Amino acid sequence: MDAKNSSVVRLRRAGDIAIVTVDNPPVNALSVALRQGLLDAVEDCEADEAVRAVVLQCAGRTFIAGADVREFGKPPQPPHLPDVVARIEGARKPWIAAIHGTALGGGFEVAMGCRFRVAAPDAKVGLPEVTLGIVPGASGTVRTARLAGVASAVELVTSGRPWKADKALSAGLLDGVVAGNLEDEAIAFARAALDRPLPEVASERPVEPMPEAFWQEAKKAVAKAGHQAPVKALELIRQGSELPFSDAMAKEREAFLTLRQSDEAAALRHVFFAERAAGRPDALRFVTPRQVHTVGVIGGGTMGAGIAAALRLAGLPVVLIERDQAALDRGMDTLSTLFDGAVKRGKLDAKGKAECMDGVTGSVDYSALVPCDLVIEAVFEEIGVKRSVFAELVLHCRPDAILATNTSYLDPRSIAEGLPNPERFIGLHFFSPAHIMKLLEIVPVTETAEEVLASAFALARQLGKMPVKAGICEGFIGNRILKRYRSEAETLLLDGVAIADIDQAMRSFGFRMGPFEAQDLGGLDIAFLQREGARAAGKDVPETLGDILVKAGRKGQKTGGGWYDYNKGDRTPRPSDAVAQLLKGRMKAQKPMPLDAISSHLITAMAREGQALLEEGIAGQPSDIDLVEIHGYGFPRWKGGPMFWAERMGLTNLAG
Ligand code: 3HC
Ligand code: NAI
Repeated sequence: MDAKNSSVVRLRRAGDIAIVTVDNPPVNALSVALRQGLLDAVEDCEADEAVRAVVLQCAGRTFIAGADVREFGKPPQPPHLPDVVARIEGARKPWIAAIHGTALGGGFEVAMGCRFRVAAPDAKVGLPEVTLGIVPGASGTVRTARLAGVASAVELVTSGRPWKADKALSAGLLDGVVAGNLEDEAIAFARAALDRPLPEVASERPVEPMPEAFWQEAKKAVAKAGHQAPVKALELIRQGSELPFSDAMAKEREAFLTLRQSDEAAALRHVFFAERAAGRPDALRFVTPRQVHTVGVIGGGTMGAGIAAALRLAGLPVVLIERDQAALDRGMDTLSTLFDGAVKRGKLDAKGKAECMDGVTGSVDYSALVPCDLVIEAVFEEIGVKRSVFAELVLHCRPDAILATNTSYLDPRSIAEGLPNPERFIGLHFFSPAHIMKLLEIVPVTETAEEVLASAFALARQLGKMPVKAGICEGFIGNRILKRYRSEAETLLLDGVAIADIDQAMRSFGFRMGPFEAQDLGGLDIAFLQREGARAAGKDVPETLGDILVKAGRKGQKTGGGWYDYNKGDRTPRPSDAVAQLLKGRMKAQKPMPLDAISSHLITAMAREGQALLEEGIAGQPSDIDLVEIHGYGFPRWKGGPMFWAERMGLTNLAG
């Protein structure tokens, strides 16, 4: 066999072993050309009598990362992936997948068609299809259980979360984890394997059936995802374990092709690409971010402690400044509690917690900030306090340190006013709890240097956050839409729609909570104080129904009642006569409204506010608004965000 090349598949020989190298940057996605290239490679290897086994490996940063998601909006083109996988499995000569990076979706299905799978120690394998609103389409629901058992298949496929190589090895999904040069190791593995009888191919292995109780439990678990793909995937794994292989494959293919066309899949694809576009803005493509090694955080309250925890969990040393020792001690206690939570969630072990705490230098002296490349201010939301903090920062920080504010509602320009070197100033708006919530609104002022902006995006990536650039207005993107959403919910209430119906409608749409129960959980007083502040500053802020409740002492769950009543120690919301009395005379007679009409009304209002933000240049593109709502406000990912939803609904005129 001569060395052969297609545009994306290269073939060469190392003695009696053929090496098939996939090279389809950036992630070796299974385009039509790659599927055809793999089929051709099988035929070439089969025809070459000198070849006894085939190693399949990939160039670049990863093994095959799956089907090409960009093809999903178009009719499927042959050769189809299940046929490619079947051809590899059916080859006379055994194929060995040599996995580095991530073998995902169709990529892992190709690997399961190979007779053996070996992987680098830091590789991951997975079937993330449900996160794209589909099910595996080339045997993932059928072959996985045949290799690793039904329970493993259910976990891998219905969660969509990839597994590390060692976990995959012990489950039976891999045959070896090899350190050193992967190609050499895979060749050595192939030669050793040829000396022994070959194991059965995956499709011919038996599956241990599971009892009914297992399926009932699993069904309850997947229902929590809120969308149909994980439910369907579970059904297919069950069929895959009970039906003959070819029947199960036919069912999987049918479900895959149907779900590919679904609204959910379109929404999830939209979010997938939106996330990648927002995370690496084109305008910053050629801008080199500044190196950030150590970060200062000013204020160890709710946000400061959360931000410090996020930084430590990403391995960055932190200097935490408070106004006095007592406040600093409280801040360090809060941090310790946050790390305890990370231990409970399995993110840290006891040693990891100790390292996280050791990496925080607490101080009440601003001169401790000298090593910091970036300082994030998270003190009280008062312009005077913030300005005096920045005056200290200018005195004590290095002139090249980036200075950031976490303000929610103040105008970053007035915080930065008069600062020397304003080009190093930027807004970094984290969401509470800051070590968990993914969203980071990045708010540059006019003077912010491009490299400072690029550094903010790089920091977001390092922290595992979803960065979205926002312009300056009250509430930036997210809180401004939230205000409109809550105000429209109050309008429905005034029109006679029940509080409980509004909350239920939003839960049915896919939110974890409706607008009123969410306020009860977070506390009505935060928004109230913000409105009172604006009123005190002379702004015309009309009274809201929430104001009436707060003035009557109803601040939410923490005061035993807000929009609902709560029994002590019980978070179950109960309709409140007291609220009915407080709002009496303002609301029209009760007028039931269908739940989907309620949710449509509220999401349309969000999209209208989003449209206004776009027209004002506060948001750069509709998908940025969708990401803010999904990552900061619990908008169901599988509905794509308010702008995507409105477009899907055919709402063309969103003015007003
Ligand atoms: N199809 C098309 N493009 C893809 C892609 C895919 N499956 N996966 C990634 N890309 C593109 C991204 O859009 C991005 O493009 P851009 O540079 O133009 O923005 C580029 O590849 C790099 O992606 P990332 O920025 O995400 O790169 P990372 O290195 O951070 O991550 C990754 C790499 C872990 C592979 C990540 O891209 C990923 O998770 N991709 C999706 C994997 C997936 O969901 N596969 C299953 C697809 S469905 C399937 O296989 C069905 C089958 O069962 C039939
Ligand atoms: P907080 O009241 O919990 O914490 C503020 C901390 O700042 C306190 O610990 C206080 O001692 C400290 N502090 C005050 N003056 C200081 C000074 N001069 N030097 C050092 N430390 C000082 O407030 P929270 O909720 O953490 O908010 C902080 C900032 O984050 C505010 O600007 C707020 O608008 C913003 N924010 C708040 C969110 C939330 O959900 N709480 C969400 C996003 C932003």
